[in-house]
Formats: sequence, structure tokens, C-alpha cells
Amino acid sequence: MENFTFWSPTEFVFGRDTESKTGELLTRFGAKKVMMLFGGHSAERSGLLARIRESMRAAGIDFIEFGGIRPNPTADKVYEGIDMARAAKVDFMLAVGGGSVIDTAKAIALGVPASEDFWNFYCGKSKPDTALPVGVVLTIPAAGSEGSGNSVITNEKTLQKISVRYPMLLRPKFAVMNPELTMTLPADQTAYGIVDMLCHIYERYFSNTPATELVDSYSEAIMRDVMDQAMTLHFQPDNYDARADVMWAGTLAHNGLCGVGKTEDWASHRLEHEISAIYDVPHGAGLAVIVPAWMKFCARRNPDKLWKFAINVMSVDPAGHDTDEIIAEGIHRLEDFYHDLGLTTSLRELIGGKEPDIEAMVKSLERNMGPTLGSYVPLSMDDCREIYRLAL
Ligand code: NZQ
Ligand code: ZN
Repeated sequence: MENFTFWSPTEFVFGRDTESKTGELLTRFGAKKVMMLFGGHSAERSGLLARIRESMRAAGIDFIEFGGIRPNPTADKVYEGIDMARAAKVDFMLAVGGGSVIDTAKAIALGVPASEDFWNFYCGKSKPDTALPVGVVLTIPAAGSEGSGNSVITNEKTLQKISVRYPMLLRPKFAVMNPELTMTLPADQTAYGIVDMLCHIYERYFSNTPATELVDSYSEAIMRDVMDQAMTLHFQPDNYDARADVMWAGTLAHNGLCGVGKTEDWASHRLEHEISAIYDVPHGAGLAVIVPAWMKFCARRNPDKLWKFAINVMSVDPAGHDTDEIIAEGIHRLEDFYHDLGLTTSLRELIGGKEPDIEAMVKSLERNMGPTLGSYVPLSMDDCREIYRLAL
């Protein structure tokens, strides 16, 4: 195990009706003027926004609202939010939604106090030294942004989707997590979220760092449980206990706990971000296409962890089979799991039967990430091209 620092200061307030505590939490964290951010219509339609407004009013919190944030959130919306937050002298961001709303809140939180373009912090031109505090009311377990120090924004002008990690500035102060709020999710969004949180664990599990048994064991337990609960939710979307397990798993998958003491990989995420940047598909849907292709590519080049994954997570019985067969069966079962969730594992099918522009994706990947990415199997741009082809 490598040396590590694990700092996860977010206060998680979990369970039924917890959104009623939002005003109280904002007061405790010193909020005076709040910007409440949300997405399209889901939070208004469910009555959630009304309950949060009521909670803030009861706590005497002054607030403004900023809605209409769409999935794969864009830089344009961030600029608009920064102007609005500055004009209203906002001192606290409250994100009500999923990764897209939370990541926009984080980007605005970086941009408001900055004397330069917020995009500089994403494209690597400079590093921020301060940010407004962010609180979250989570409505979809998926991106894990409620516990992460990350934010992912798409710049539509340059067609770049870039993820940054500034944990000291961007980890939310609090995250309200009521599993009942996720019962209004359409089945496909539940599935995308499950694929995403699982991938947040793969990115850390597939590591060459030796002697990480404890972290590997609880990572495997979370993966197995998420896959079980995913099937429960597929047939019983209103099952509270399954919703609760999946919601907490989404946080554990990405708050850093599954990566402590290990060199992480993140190649699958980088490969996927090019797909959702160009074709605007949901992040989880893109991952269902990329992950099996990435595993097939790595199978011969670095089989050890894939073998362990096949046996310990995908429950492949190794008796009488060689390593290649065990890994192939593990990947096959993972693809079947994605299909059972109603997802495709074909890149062509994902983008509506068109021929994807693999060269454009590889070119953009190189511009964003440099000549290599990943660490489990370090990938050249030729390797990335091959993975996109394997995903077709
Ligand atoms: O906009 P509304 O109407 O709210 O609908 C949303 C949206 O269409 C809907 N939804 C959310 N909660 C709902 C609901 N519908 C009904 N009932 C509810 N309770 O779900 C749709 C997707 O929402 P979104 O916020 O986009 O989902 P997700 O949490 O998957 O976030 C995806 C974004 O997060 C980024 C992704 O790249 C993508 O841009 N990521 C962020 C990470 C981070 N900050 O740490 C890590 C991840 O790897 C990921 O890259
Ligand atoms: Zn992700």
C-alpha cells in the first residue's frame, strides 16, 4: 500500500425526509445568501424544490435560484451563473440534483472569487486558491460528486469535456441524501448511475499497487452489492432498502475510500468523456460501452486483477478453466449485466447507428490528456484507437 492522505470532511445527512434539514444545515455552515441550483423539471415536479424553499425560509436564509442546468453541463451555463452570483453577492452554493447540477455549482464556486476565467482551472492554465462553499441535496446516485472534490464541465466551443480534482476546495460541506427522492428516476437514469458508480470503483480497483487486500475486499463487496441491488431495482423501483444501498454505494465509490493507498487508473473515464463531449450521450451509457472494450484490451496485457474481478465480483467458478477463459467469462457476465439493465455495449448503437468519428475522439483525447493515459495498462493513442474499435 502507498502512503496516502484521506480527507473527507463532507457531512452526510442520510434518510427519509432529510431535505427538511437543508435550511438548518445552511445556517450551521454560515450561509447568508444562497444560490440554489437545479436541472430541468424533475425537482420542481416532485415538490422537492418547494420543500427546500420552505426549509430555507423557515431558517431565515436569503436565496436566489438558478435552474435549467442540463446533463453534461456546459461552460456557458457556468459563466451565466458566475455573473448572477456576483451580482447577488452570493456566499454559498446549494446544488439540488445530480452530478451535472453539483458540478456546475462547483465550477461557479471556483469562478465567483477568481480574478481570471474559471475555464483556466479546467484546461490546466492555472490552479484556484479559493472557492465558495457548496452544499448538496442529491437526487440521483451516480456521479458521486456529493462526496468528491471533482467537477466535470463541457466547453461546447472547444468540444472539450474536462474533469478537475480540487478536493481541498470542492468537497461539499454537506450532502443531504434521501433515497426516496430517487424513486422518481426513470429506469434508464437509474441504470446509468449504477454503471457510473461501478466504474468509479473499477478505476481504483484495477491498479498495480501491491498489498491492497483490505481496500480490494471492501471494493469487491460494494461492487457485488450494487449489482445485486441493481437487479432488485430493475423489478422493484420503489424498494427503499435497495435505493438506500445504491445511494450510499454511489458516494463510497467516489469519495476516495476505494482508492486509498493505490495508484488509480481513470482511462475508461477519459475515453468515455470524448464520447459524451462529441455525441452528448449520458456518461453512464458511454461507460457501459467503453468498460468491456477496455477490459478486453487489458486481458492479455495485465490479466491478474481481471482474473480476480471475474472470480470475486462476477462469481465465475475458476475450476477447470484457464486464466483467459475465466477473464473472458467475467467480461461476458458484465456485458450481460449491462444488457439486463437495458443498456447497449456497442458504440455504434449508442450513437444511433452512425459511424463514430474515432479519429476525432483520439485527437481530442491527446489534446486533453497528452500522449498516454491510465496506469493499469498505460495506453498510447494507438491503444485508445483500438479500444474505441473494440467498442464498436
Ligand atoms: O434535469 P432534471 O429534470 O433534474 O433531470 C435529471 C437529468 O435529466 C434527471 N434526474 C435527476 N434526479 C432525478 C431525475 N429525474 C427524476 N427524478 C430524480 N430524482 O437525471 C438526468 C441526469 O442528471 P445528471 O445530473 O446529469 O446525472 P449524473 O449524476 O449522472 O451526472 C452526470 C454528470 O456528472 C459527471 C458526468 O460526466 C456528467 O457530466 N461526472 C461527475 C463526476 C464528479 N464530479 O465527481 C464524476 C463522474 O465520473 C462524472 O464524470
Ligand atoms: Zn463517472
